[in-house]
Amino acid sequence: MKLFKFLCYFIALDIGCTIAFCAHTKYDNSPAYILAESYEVQLTPQAHASTIQWSDQAKKGKQLFRSNCAACHNKNMVDQMTGPALAGLEDRWEGRERLLYEWIRNSRAVMESGDTYAVELYRKWAPTEMNAFPNLEDEDIDAILAYIKEASS
Ligand code: HEC
Repeated sequence: MKLFKFLCYFIALDIGCTIAFCAHTKYDNSPAYILAESYEVQLTPQAHASTIQWSDQAKKGKQLFRSNCAACHNKNMVDQMTGPALAGLEDRWEGRERLLYEWIRNSRAVMESGDTYAVELYRKWAPTEMNAFPNLEDEDIDAILAYIKEASS
């Protein structure tokens, strides 16, 4: 019984220190954060996807993503599904943002234009092919990309 009391005391102290340390440093990958997560203590709003504070644009993007993209692209943005993981898109399409918008509206057209990256992507994922979304306006795609970015961070 004494041992049990001691253990309880120790665990409580440990959690307390962890919270104090994390609140102070806010380093998501600090050992204390990882420890705290194993106790299922939520320290920051970003700790779990379900508690992310979305921007208004990303909220709109989330809806659009769910109805148009989530059948093939994993909503955790890091694991592949029927289509590739979308985290880090802005790096892969850096300097070619217009083309990315065209791709989302009609990926086959971009691939057929001979763009090396698009051709390679098609080859890699064949025979699966992304749908075309000609009805998505620029602002819809802005919102989807904002959501992808926020969901990936
Ligand atoms: C039917 C499944 C499917 C749906 C639905 C789909 N995609 Fe895709 N997507 C793919 C596949 C497969 C690829 C790989 C290229 C190819 O073969 O078409 C891809 C590739 C991409 C890429 C390029 C990835 C990279 O790493 O550069 C982007 C961006 C993308 N999709 C965005 C979207 C968005 C945004 C939506 C919703 C509006 C969407 N996709 C809906 C299957 C899908």
